Amino acid sequence: MSINIPRGTKDILPGEVEKWQIIEAKAKEISARFNYKEIRTPMFEHTDLFQRGVGDSTDIVQKEMYTFTDRGDRSLTLRPEGTAPVTRSYVENKLFGLAGQPIKLYYIAPMFRYERPQAGRYRQFVQFGIEAMGSADPAIDAEVISLAMSLYKELGLKKLRLVLNTLGDAESRKTHKEALIAHFEPSIGEFCSDCQNRLTKNPLRILDCKKDRDHELMKSAPSIIDHLNEESKVYFEQVKTALTEMNIDYALDPTLVRGLDYYNHTAFEIMSDADGFGAITTLSGGGRYNGLVEDLGGPPTPSIGFAMSLERLLMALEAEGITLDTEDVLDCYVVALGDDAKRKSVSLLNELRQAGIKSDKDYLDKKMKAQFKAADRLKAKFVAILGDEELAKGIINVKNMQSGEQTEVRLEELSSFIKQGK
Ligand code: HAM
Repeated sequence: MSINIPRGTKDILPGEVEKWQIIEAKAKEISARFNYKEIRTPMFEHTDLFQRGVGDSTDIVQKEMYTFTDRGDRSLTLRPEGTAPVTRSYVENKLFGLAGQPIKLYYIAPMFRYERPQAGRYRQFVQFGIEAMGSADPAIDAEVISLAMSLYKELGLKKLRLVLNTLGDAESRKTHKEALIAHFEPSIGEFCSDCQNRLTKNPLRILDCKKDRDHELMKSAPSIIDHLNEESKVYFEQVKTALTEMNIDYALDPTLVRGLDYYNHTAFEIMSDADGFGAITTLSGGGRYNGLVEDLGGPPTPSIGFAMSLERLLMALEAEGITLDTEDVLDCYVVALGDDAKRKSVSLLNELRQAGIKSDKDYLDKKMKAQFKAADRLKAKFVAILGDEELAKGIINVKNMQSGEQTEVRLEELSSFIKQGK
């Protein structure tokens, strides 16, 4: 019996992987342009990190984590997201003590969530994310959003919608929380058991419930916007002004609460409005998390970031009919005929490769015609044909596959000839 791939995961085969390489390279190039440096953290962390960082009452922690006990009896979890691990690393490595704050970081890394798989939702997916740690300047909120938008736009996406909200500061959230409890408490019996648990722990999460989203009390729930204190209002205005000055359009949505507990102030999601993108329209999400560094044992450090999955980015490109240039060509294919020539072709190929020439040969003992066919399939620019007779004379015939022109080249000059022509 054969063994299949686990549900919600996928293989990325040659032919598809080139698209990934292009968008990964683009993400790295844009991060460098905005002066973000790469960080790599482990694939698994202590489970406590996510319970404390992402939040005990979130769906991620309650239902979606791949948690296991290792042989030393420790509870570990495959990371479901990157912000808590990066924050842990920022605290543990005392990055807050470095000159040059804010520390601006990015990652491209696999994340794991036990979710119900569907288009755009996987159990292993790759996030490109950034975290700007150590600044409370609203201009950096706009910078983070602009970086995400730039990646999408530069890859050619047009049907984008930026949705913006504020969750306010701790004081605003406290008054909002009280208002939410007062709103839901009298009818909480009509809600699912998760929501009943959320009521006192974290009533904001009720607004995020997938089961009860059509309950009439959801629509009339008190909005954070009506509970913002002056400071939070001013902060939000400054973020909006910075976005307007950067010509970034946005739509306000006071119901955008995000599914992780660490957020305050700015929260945003970028959606795809492309036909055929599917039921899940969120391309990326992020926001400010001013309290997380302190919660994980560091000094007060206002921070903001976002993450997007590359899977959803590729889906959006497809939905908008954008193709990435993945054409792969070979500089030279060596065709060998005869036993001596075949033996020689091994070292010849080695020389070509050492000279930096992308080259290959046949390994299936094919006839000449089939070897030419293979060269065609690999889109070889040159085919170098070596027979025993040529070998005896120390020459090789090189065919330029575009012009059809054939040249006799001395064996020791093959590399320089191909280099000139490629
Ligand atoms: P998140 O909204 O949970 O936020 O995930 C961010 C993005 O990851 C989503 O918008 C989506 O593109 C992708 N994503 C999430 N789950 C899946 C899945 N099951 N399959 C495919 N893609 C998925 C965070 O993870 C935060 N750490 C973002 C952040 C960074 N906030 C501040 N800094």
